[in-house]
Amino acid sequence: MANFKTLIYQKRGPLACITLNRPDFLNTYNIQMRDELFQVLEALQADDGVRAVIFSGAGEKAFSAGADLSEFLTAPSPVVAREVRFSRDIWGLLLSLEQPLIAAVHGYVMGSGLEIALCCDLRVASEEAQFGFPEGGLGIIPAAGGTQTLPRVVGRPRALEMLLTGRRISAGEAYKIGLVNHVVPRGELMATAETLAGKIISNSLIAVKNAKQAVTQGLNLTLEEGLGLEHRLADLVLASFHPTQL
Ligand code: COA
Repeated sequence: MANFKTLIYQKRGPLACITLNRPDFLNTYNIQMRDELFQVLEALQADDGVRAVIFSGAGEKAFSAGADLSEFLTAPSPVVAREVRFSRDIWGLLLSLEQPLIAAVHGYVMGSGLEIALCCDLRVASEEAQFGFPEGGLGIIPAAGGTQTLPRVVGRPRALEMLLTGRRISAGEAYKIGLVNHVVPRGELMATAETLAGKIISNSLIAVKNAKQAVTQGLNLTLEEGLGLEHRLADLVLASFHPTQL
């Protein structure tokens, strides 16, 4: 794959690792990172060989401090910004990936950095990580899915408190409210994420894929519809044992 300026993309067998790589700028998300991430996600979408993906941030200070404010409102016009958004639905693409996604986060995890982590299925944080949505103080609201993904993960009152006050929370609090699955010392962050990925990869591909689909699609359905979805997906998994009986 191309040599990227803002990302490192590595494949180790069935595990893909994406590292946000602008450590001098706290891995802030800029236009170039958006374009490069889009290329990587499109490749992942087409790559059946990848069975788990880990997102992390380079450097010691941050997973990502959010959007690069030096590019704030630099699109030629709101219409152009909108066109780019629809022609490159990066967040829709990220949320639609079939592979399980793990965010291994440290330091500042803010704004669109937190939104990337929220698009992942599992989140592992280092002990000193801090999470927050500073958008309110800038007079904007998150636009990479945060207003939708956060309440689905931590519930409405906690999501609204974070979004409306902009208060930063610690890794301990993030664990308490279910924002992250595990909190570990910084030195164990990647190993913990890799262990989780390894367990996923060692399970049946079709079982993992269908379990993720059942949960992610089911969350947008009524319980009855969700049970129907689970039934269909379970049948597909069972049929994979006896393909001739389909
Ligand atoms: N966009 C552009 N540059 C940013 C940035 C952002 N979102 N966040 C930090 N930086 C830059 C700083 O300007 C600084 O650059 P400099 O060294 O050239 O002065 C460098 O990154 C380090 O940041 P600094 O503020 O010195 O580090 P800190 O540890 O004191 O504070 C933060 C870190 C993340 C708390 C603080 O930088 C901050 O609040 N950043 C803004 C976060 C934000 O609003 N994100 C956008 C959401 S839409």
